[in-house]
Formats: sequence, structure tokens, C-alpha cells
Amino acid sequence: MTAVGIDAIEIWTGKLKLDLAETFAPEKGEDPEKYTKGLGLHASSFPDAHEDIVTMGANAAKRLMERKGLEPEDIGRIDVATESAFDNSKPVSTYIAGCLEQVYDGDFHHANKGERKFACIAGTQSLDDAYNWIKAGRNRGRAALVVATDTALYARGDPGEATQGAGAVAMLIDEDPNLVELSTEQGYGSADETDFLKPNQQFPSVDGKRSMQVYLARMREALEDFESVSGDTHPDDFAYIPFHTPFPGMVRKAGLLGYRHMIRDTPVEEELAEEIGFQPREENFEDRESYEEAIRDHMDDLSSTEAYRDWYAATVEPTLSISREVGNWYTGSVHIARASALKTAAEEGIDLTGQKLLVGSYGSGAQAEIHAETVADEWEDEIEALNIDDQNDARYDLDFEEYEKVHDRHNHDKTIEMEDFTVPDGEFVFTGRGRMNERL
Ligand code: HMG
Repeated sequence: MTAVGIDAIEIWTGKLKLDLAETFAPEKGEDPEKYTKGLGLHASSFPDAHEDIVTMGANAAKRLMERKGLEPEDIGRIDVATESAFDNSKPVSTYIAGCLEQVYDGDFHHANKGERKFACIAGTQSLDDAYNWIKAGRNRGRAALVVATDTALYARGDPGEATQGAGAVAMLIDEDPNLVELSTEQGYGSADETDFLKPNQQFPSVDGKRSMQVYLARMREALEDFESVSGDTHPDDFAYIPFHTPFPGMVRKAGLLGYRHMIRDTPVEEELAEEIGFQPREENFEDRESYEEAIRDHMDDLSSTEAYRDWYAATVEPTLSISREVGNWYTGSVHIARASALKTAAEEGIDLTGQKLLVGSYGSGAQAEIHAETVADEWEDEIEALNIDDQNDARYDLDFEEYEKVHDRHNHDKTIEMEDFTVPDGEFVFTGRGRMNERL
């Protein structure tokens, strides 16, 4: 059976940076540690005035194609995953293909193009579509290009404002992949939920606290469903566990939940209920409170054990290094978590070839998907080709007034002039001359 998976990736960050401790916290009257320690975020990436989901996605895809020496005829499928689309008819992949055709002799007329939407999980769903297309033998020797691109903005004053971000991840899906091999080991947790939604509106309506509970509930279901395919899992089965990362503090909770499930600690609920005489009847609220408190204490105890701390530091913490600096990229988020982990391993000289990753994707609305991947033998070369640290360092550091101006401009207020910001050469930029695909 031919291996199919991710052959290569490129990451493209928005060119502006909002520092949460230095710039955001003082204006909000908050302790900077709420962001750096509580949420686990140092900064957010923002799109400059000349950037949008198309330019970020096209720039990431162009660099990927150049690095891999690809021509349009090598790509048989272009899928974009986004929840920031501006067109309800044409998929964003047609705009990105249009950009790429400006710099290549050939065209993408032969390529199937589409757009996947299911909040943040759409990036992983596009990978799955590409995997299925190749496995079904419909690719005629061609690879698939998957681009996850978003500007994750919240209304000013919304608690989500601290978790914003903008960037794109381009991924090449192919036979005999260099980076990771995908597998049929996969599980889902899916339910109709309304804690995070954007019905014809620029900023999401979010019940932030509930969204965290929904994330954990769906992730737990997905893990159980995954085990119905893979058999029981153990925390040491996986080199890394990249989760969807709206902010690292969320992953801290997901990591603990996953660990607890994998060490089969859950019967403790029954013991605790017996100990405090709790009967799960709705009228018995006093008992429910003590029960929930006992569970919280138990989780706190578990999270302070040496075994858990060592496991988390080795298996989950390394997935957060890029996220901390860029915020939530929605569809790209879990894919930068995977890249962070592999990048850390390369920097620390860890040999990962043949080792397994457990990837936990999530999209509001809501669905979680857990799948297993195997690290391929050329992974190190692919990861070392990324320049995300240089891109992050090169971002323009916004002051608060500039941040508000940029935020307003991306909220469709194109009357705001951004003349202070420079437009780079040699990249696709949004020229704003009336035609949406007029990019240079
Ligand atoms: P908040 O309510 O302002 O924050 O916003 P908080 O008061 O809950 O504090 C956050 C954490 O910081 C807490 O940690 C505090 O204790 C801690 P926790 O108790 O949870 O472990 N903290 C401090 N720590 C150290 N020093 C201090 C300090 N002060 C507080 N001084 C909220 C949090 C998540 C509600 C907000 O950011 C939000 O609404 N975010 C947007 C929604 C979101 O990201 N949800 C995550 C799950 S849903 C998801 O992932 C899907 C999504 O990506 C969309 C999609 O799929 O398309 C969002």
C-alpha cells in the first residue's frame, strides 16, 4: 500500500504583531500574566492593510511550490480551508490559483478547486479529502495543495480579543510523503452546538466559557471513537500530541483530559460519588456542587503529579511554541502545533522517524477529530526549511492606536488610510483597485 500524507508545509504569518503583555494588557487594565500565564499567549499576528486570507494563502503556497520545484501541472487539486471567506459563491482557492497563475507559465485549469468550512477543523478535513482522493487513485499522479488561511478577529472588548491571530499554512499532500504519513486510525466527536458562530457577520458571537467545555466534550468523544479503531491508547504511545490551539491554556486542559483518559483514571467519578453519597438527581444541587468540587480537586492533584508533569512537558508543551507568538489561526492552528513539535524535536536533535503523533483537531459548531500520523524519514529537512521564527521577528510591533486602526480597517472600513505601512516587493498584495483578485 502506498503511503499518503503531508509531504511539505509552509507557514505565513500576518506582518503585524500585537504584544499582549506590553501593549494590550495596560490598555485593558489587566495583569499581563493573565495573558502570558493564564491564556499562555505572548503576542498575536495581524494582517497588514495590504494582506488578507488570499494574499497570505497565496504567498505560503508560492513559497511551497518554489521550494519543492513544483509546476501547476504537478497539482491536481487545490482546497482552501477558511472561516474568513468574503465570497459566498467562488471558493477562495480560485483566488489563490489566480494569484499563482500570475507567476507561473502554466495554469491550474485542470485542477479541482474547493473550499471547506467547519470552523477550525476544516483544515484537517481538507487533508482528509486530499488523502481520500489520492488513496482512491483519482489523482493521476498529481499532488494536492491544501491551504488553511484565516484572520481570526473578535469584536473589541470581547474576551476573545486577546486570542486573535492571522496567518496561513500551505500543505502538499502526496504519495510517499517526506513529513508525516496519514492513516485510517481516526475518530470523531460531533454535535450541533451554538457557542461560537458567525452567521453573516464579521466577528463571531461567542460564549467563551461554554466553548471551552464544548471543545473538551467533543475531544473526549473523539478520543473514545478513535480507540474503537486503534484499540486502547497509552500516554507513551505518542511522541507528540498537537491539539487545536485557540490559546495554549486551552491545550493545558485538553492535555490533562487526554492523559486522564489514557491512564484509565475515569472510574474515579463513581468512587467520588459514592464517597460523598451523591446521587445524580437534578434536585440535589448541593451534592452536585460538592461532587464537582471533588472532581476539580482530583484533577488538580493529577496535574501536579510528577508523571503527568513530565509527560506534558515532553509530549504537549513543545506543540505550543509558535502559537504563543501568533495567537489563534483557526484552520491553520493545529497544523502550526504539529510544526512546533517537529521543529522542537529538530532543534533538540531528537530522532522522530517512524514515531507516532496523535493529532487532535477541533472546530466550533462543533466537531473534534483525533487521528494518528507516523513521522516520515525526511521530516527534519522539511522542518528545517521553515522560516517562521524570522517572519515572527520581522513583524511590525503595533502600538495600541495603530492596532485599533488596523482592526477597524479589517472590519471592512476601507476608508481608513494605512499610508504608514510599507508594501513589500515580490509578494502577493491586495491592491484594493476594485477587482478582488487583482494582486501583484
Ligand atoms: P476571560 O474570561 O477573559 O479569561 O477569557 P479568564 O478570566 O477565564 O482567564 C483566563 C485564564 O487566565 C484562567 O485560567 C485564569 O485563571 C487565568 P484557567 O483558570 O482557565 O486555567 N488568569 C491568570 N493567570 C495568571 N495571572 C493572572 C491571571 N488572571 C487570570 N493575573 C476566554 C477567556 C477563553 C473566555 C476568552 O479568551 C474567549 O472567549 N476566547 C474565544 C473563544 C475560545 O477561544 N474558546 C476556546 C474553545 S473553542 C475553540 O477552540 C474554537 C475556536 O478556535 C473557533 C473555531 O473553531 O472556529 C475558538
